[in-house]
Amino acid sequence: MSPPVSASERRTGLAVVGCGGISRAHLRAIDAEPRARLVAVADLDAERAREAARKHGAGRTCASWDELWSDPAVEAVDVCLPHHLHAPAAIAALEHGRHVLVEKPVANTVAEADQMIAAARAAGRVLMVGHMKRFSRTFGTMQRLVTGGAIGRPIACEAFWHGPREIMPKIPWVLKKAQGGGGPLMGFGTHYLDLLRWTLGEAAEVACFTTCGVVENSEVEDTAVLALRFRVGALGAVHFSWSRAVKAYDEHIRILGTGGEVLVRGEKELHLASETRFGDRKLRRLDLDAEAPDWPADPFSGQLAHFLDCIETGQAPLTDGPSGRATVELIEVAYRSAETGETLTIEERGEG
Ligand SMILES: NC(=O)c1ccc[n+]([C@@H]2O[C@H](COP(=O)([O-])OP(=O)(O)OC[C@H]3O[C@@H](n4cnc5c(N)ncnc54)[C@H](O)[C@@H]3O)[C@@H](O)[C@H]2O)c1
Repeated sequence: MSPPVSASERRTGLAVVGCGGISRAHLRAIDAEPRARLVAVADLDAERAREAARKHGAGRTCASWDELWSDPAVEAVDVCLPHHLHAPAAIAALEHGRHVLVEKPVANTVAEADQMIAAARAAGRVLMVGHMKRFSRTFGTMQRLVTGGAIGRPIACEAFWHGPREIMPKIPWVLKKAQGGGGPLMGFGTHYLDLLRWTLGEAAEVACFTTCGVVENSEVEDTAVLALRFRVGALGAVHFSWSRAVKAYDEHIRILGTGGEVLVRGEKELHLASETRFGDRKLRRLDLDAEAPDWPADPFSGQLAHFLDCIETGQAPLTDGPSGRATVELIEVAYRSAETGETLTIEERGEG
């Protein structure tokens, strides 16, 4: 008989489904997390699954997520699949009593997100969406400063995320509308719109324009520009593009307030002007080691630790199904605005 396992030695058995690009960051986080162990990996591409299993010590490889359910050691699944497969894989896992961490966006549509949320409620299992930027100390500090009043009342924000034009064609499903669900608004926009919702609250109105033609053989936009009005009154101008000629990413979020400003460049730099904190109106780069000393350096580790906390305590994840759904709803309404040429309102929803 195996010796009893103490609470401190308890390791949640995880399976990673989809062993492509982003799974590497998830697998590294699992390797580094003493409360988790990698039990299995699944990928249609047998070589990818074998390679992930070999590198990260998974005991099993599978071609399909359905092969996982007979193994009681798989207690939770980490879904790193193309967008159109998030809902079917997550719902299957939840119906088989497994907890789910699913990469962003929660799904391609609000209807699919609703089915996932219902499946999680029916199963009494955790459904968490991999909006990992909320676990980055840069954006976490940004959110804390703004909601804590460091810049006064938010007036306006701008968010830009531009990527070089040759990156996305390398991932074929991304350019197919039925699979990727959209272009950079869906791919990059899910991250930044989630951060803006977290920091400023829900959007009330959106107008969106899209264009395409730079990235070849694509069924989706390669640039999207949105104008937003948040319920708190702040305005937003956001751009997402993967058609940049310059071979580098350019990402930033800036939020203007009545008493200051916050600017995050990429994942690493945070600048703050705060009349209440500094007594002047200068923008200064903050030292994040001093600002957020307890925050894990790797956001994927913070995300995984939070997922395990939620499994262990039953608390709702910070990035739960309804929150992921609200980001997808904003994107859905934005695409509708791009089609109709109208400024559209986003329905106010109670929790439920
Ligand atoms: N958090 C981030 O910063 C970040 C960055 C990149 C991608 N992502 C997200 O991660 C997810 C995956 O993106 P990616 O770039 O890793 O894609 P990818 O194409 O590199 O990997 C997807 C993997 O899924 C496998 N797969 C496809 N269909 C399958 C099936 N039916 N059964 C089993 N395996 C199957 C593919 O063989 C591939 O290995 C997406 O949701 C994407 O938006 C997040």
